[in-house]
Order: sequence, then structure tokens, then C-alpha cells
Amino acid sequence: MLTTPLCDLLGIDAPLIQAPVGSASCPALVAAVSRAGALGMLSFTWAPVEQVATDLAELGVLLGPDVPFGVNFILDFSIEEKLALCLKAGVRVVSTFWGDPAPFVERIHAAGAVHLHTVGSAVEAVRAVEAGVDAVVCQGWEAGGHVWGTAASLPLIPAVVDAVSPVPVIAAGGIADGRGLAAVLTLGAQAAWVGTRFLASEEARTHEVYRSRVVAAAETDAVHTLAFDGGWPGAAHRALWNSTLEAWEAAGRPAASERPGEGDVVASGPWGDQLRYGDMMPLPGMRGDLEAMALYAGQSAGLVREVLPAARIVEGFVREATDVLSRLGGV
Ligand SMILES: Cc1cc2nc3c(=O)[nH]c(=O)nc-3n(C[C@H](O)[C@H](O)[C@H](O)COP(=O)(O)O)c2cc1C
Repeated sequence: MLTTPLCDLLGIDAPLIQAPVGSASCPALVAAVSRAGALGMLSFTWAPVEQVATDLAELGVLLGPDVPFGVNFILDFSIEEKLALCLKAGVRVVSTFWGDPAPFVERIHAAGAVHLHTVGSAVEAVRAVEAGVDAVVCQGWEAGGHVWGTAASLPLIPAVVDAVSPVPVIAAGGIADGRGLAAVLTLGAQAAWVGTRFLASEEARTHEVYRSRVVAAAETDAVHTLAFDGGWPGAAHRALWNSTLEAWEAAGRPAASERPGEGDVVASGPWGDQLRYGDMMPLPGMRGDLEAMALYAGQSAGLVREVLPAARIVEGFVREATDVLSRLGGV
């Protein structure tokens, strides 16, 4: 069986975590992943408090008290009320990103939850461990969505493992199949943290236009940029090349006030009007020029070839990683 000590800590069967993917993380996705034996993660940074309560209640119904799932918060935003709600509801895994985890460790542990924190370097990993987090997620810069560091996964993972061992390390960025899972386990990580692959799952809250672009993308289509800065200025991210990026790059990457199409409403729908350089991705129910919005994805999009049920994605990861590792064991 493919398992690591981190699986025991998190109460999961497979060393696989569905990364928090902003508004695309939803109870249906999290429930499908957690039921399949991996860990599903909700992303609550931008959710209103009422939605946090509704999502937790929905997951309680879908999963019952014995199947774990996690919640994620970005520390550049105010999280106090929502974190308190999650801890009160008995959430067992809390992940933090983009800031100092120290002020939150004690509270998370006092509630009996495990604290994971995402880092982009070995130095930062040591600091997070000294602050008391239970495991570090190291995010390579090939990752999709907002990208904190500048090192790629291949050198980053062993550097972080060496720096914080025996504290468990979780590898994020560039992993989209069982070969990637086997690779990061070989490098000393105890689980893979996978975002882009799950965007093209049946349960993810992603618009058809967005999923299709992820499925069609090559590994070279996911670019590191600062373009989609509405709502979160100065935060680097990786997204698929599209008409907005093309026009901005062609204009010489001008500053916000001089960008082509600045202020354009490119889509509308249940989440309100969406601006061309806004930080929202295309969600179901939106209408308009969805291709022009932030199509967050990592370089691993090049490995995503079809939309599948999340449980089949989890099974595929485990089967393929097990095959690869047993084949290599025979060398
Ligand atoms: C659409 C999208 C949204 C994301 N939103 C969050 C988030 O809310 N919180 C967070 O900690 N990381 C977020 N991330 C980063 C992921 O947690 C993870 O580090 C990344 O997806 C891993 O790389 P991969 O995309 O190659 O699998 C997001 C990533 C994507 C693709």
C-alpha cells in the first residue's frame, strides 16, 4: 500500500492532497477526493462567512464526522472570523499561505487541528517549523495560481526535506499524475499537493471554457505573470496564455493605468461583474468573454488530457505511482 507517516497524521489512505484552488474548491470536489482516500481542501480566503458555514454544513452531510478534509487561508487577508468558525466546527486540517503562520499555530493546535503552511524556500520552511507548524508544503514555481517563491520543485523539495526532516514535507507544483507523485516521494516528500489536475475534474467549480483550456494546454502555455492583479496587487501568479496577456505583453507590460482594456467588464453572472485584470477565474454561470479572464493553471496543465471524476483522478494517481515505484524497486 502506498502510504507515509503523514497519511497517519492526516487520517488519509493515499499520500495525495487536492490543493486549495480558490473559488474552484467546492464541497462536491472536496467530498469526492476525501471519500476516495486522499485529502480534499476548501479554500475560504475569499468566501463570505455565511458561505463558510454553509460549506462546512454541506461537507458534514456529505462526509460525516470520520472522513477528514482541510481548509485553507491566505494570510494577506483577514481570516480571524472564518478561522474561528472552522475550528469551532471541528475541522481537522488547516493550511495557511502567503505570510507568517506563527500567530495562528497555537489556536489551531488548541482546537486539535493539524497546521500545514506553504513555503517557497528551505529557509522559510525552517522558520515555519520553528513557529510550530506540523508539516510544510513546498510550492515550486511551476505551480498554478498564486506563486510565492522562485525555485522549481525538483531542487526545492530535497532542499526543504533536508532542512526540516523529520517534519513531513508536502510537494506542490508540477504534479499531475502518478509519475509525479512517485517522483516527489522519491525526493523525500510525504505527499503531493495537486491543484491544476483537479481543475479538470467533474466536481470542480470551473466553467467549461476554463476546463477546456486546461485540457488543451501545453506545458509551455502556463506563464508566470503579475497581470491579473485586481483584488490582490503585486502577487505573482501562473495562468494560461490568453488574449488579455497577449495584449498586455504586446503593449510592453504597461502599468495598471495604461493597460489595454483596463476597466473593461469581460464577464458577469452570479459573482458580479468581472474586470479584465481582475483576479477571478471563470466559474459556472458566468457569461461573457471568459477566455480573457485569469485562467490560473500550472505547467502541469500539459499533462491534463481529459476531465474525469475526482475519485478516478485519485485512483489513477495511486495506481500509477505504485506501478512506477515497484518497477523502479526491481532495478
Ligand atoms: C486556480 C487556482 C487557485 C488557487 N488558489 C489557492 C488558494 O486559495 N490558496 C492556496 O494556498 N493556494 C492556492 N493555489 C495554489 C495551489 O494550492 C497549489 O500550490 C498549486 O496548484 C500546485 O501546483 P499545480 O497547480 O501544478 O498542481 C491555487 C492554484 C490554482 C491553480
